[in-house]
Amino acid sequence: MIAALLRILLILLPLTTATALARDTDYYKQRRDRLLSMLDRREAALIPGAWEKELETFRQSNNFYYFTGIEQPNLLLLIAPAARSREVLFLPAHNLEDGSMSEAWTGSKLGPGSATEQATGIAKAAEKGTFETAFAALAGELDRLYFDCVPAGIGGPKSGAQVLLETIHGRYPHIRILPLSRLTDSLRILKDSVEIATIARAVDITGQALVEAIGAVEAGMFEYEVEAMIEYGFSRRGSQRPGFPSIAGSGPNTVTLHYNENRRRMEPGELLLMDVGAELDYYTADITRTVPVDGRFTDRQRQVYETVLAAQQAAIEVVKPGVTLREVHAAASAVIADAGFGKYFIHYTSHYLGMDVHDAGSRDEKLRPGMVITVEPGIYIPEETLGVRIEDDVLVTENGSRVLSRDVPGTVGEIEKLMRSGR
Ligand code: GLY
Ligand code: MN
Ligand code: MN
Repeated sequence: MIAALLRILLILLPLTTATALARDTDYYKQRRDRLLSMLDRREAALIPGAWEKELETFRQSNNFYYFTGIEQPNLLLLIAPAARSREVLFLPAHNLEDGSMSEAWTGSKLGPGSATEQATGIAKAAEKGTFETAFAALAGELDRLYFDCVPAGIGGPKSGAQVLLETIHGRYPHIRILPLSRLTDSLRILKDSVEIATIARAVDITGQALVEAIGAVEAGMFEYEVEAMIEYGFSRRGSQRPGFPSIAGSGPNTVTLHYNENRRRMEPGELLLMDVGAELDYYTADITRTVPVDGRFTDRQRQVYETVLAAQQAAIEVVKPGVTLREVHAAASAVIADAGFGKYFIHYTSHYLGMDVHDAGSRDEKLRPGMVITVEPGIYIPEETLGVRIEDDVLVTENGSRVLSRDVPGTVGEIEKLMRSGR
């Protein structure tokens, strides 16, 4: 009897609690329609979602989320002008069996059929097992396939997307396979008002968590304590996860650009460099602050810090529609070179920011309103174990720019004051 009731419950489960989208279905539909309009009749785009891994928290792949808003593993989206419905979402059939991948264990899922078509706004929701037949029917009409494949690590196991790519390539050698980014970069580089509001909120969360952590930093603490404080600050404000591994590097670790072991004990007189970003609804912030562990910059630290800050301000002043990231970098580099630190500025000043921390976009692109970039000069002097980076997130506006992270203390005076208040 109980078994029979459980079975009925399992059958009803997908109908009652199917995944809802974060935005209305039109929001994503417009994006798919734009992608569709970029394809000619002999082209198609195939976008695999992220695969499910047991005992790992699921995160959808960025492009799949961008075009669907669906957070569910093992899906496949086909966009093809030559297909009857133009867009097809392929989903696994409902798994109502007992077992670790069943919906009873992992939550109810969208399945093939009209309920999913209504819930997602995607014209056709088909069973995943039908993909091969559907693609075979189309393949003869295709010259090019844009495919979104994030490669697995060298020597690592192949991702489901890679296997799919190799299968298609082996079976249909006449179809040229091109990276989907050729089409999506130009869409994702411009942020709409919803995306800008989301990034701005991720920036606020990051800034508030940083302020709390900076106020609590003192010599003798471990870098991982700083990391934990910052990430707790993210979580308690609703961020789902950090957008990239948090960097809390002290003393000699300040000169290692992407140091993220965060295991060292911080000594008096050292600097601490924190490069962190909360992710919110698939968009990340990316902010760096460098502070003296015991609350006061030494004269040398201050000299280097003021140079980086001046370089950052010079670079931010350049940001406006029509300029390129190269010009932004040149402005920062000139200030650092004039101060005699040229050889210690070893990376680029800016990158685009969005769903990926290093978001799509070229350095030669002319900035337009709606783009979001970082401005993050740094000076790294290994022989003095002294590194300073200051990083803010900047929205390009009609008339210039808006520093989204402007409320996060950044001058020597502001940082020292904040650290005194925490003591
Ligand atoms: N957090 C990585 C970067 O600043 O580029
Ligand atoms: Mn950055
Ligand atoms: Mn950063």
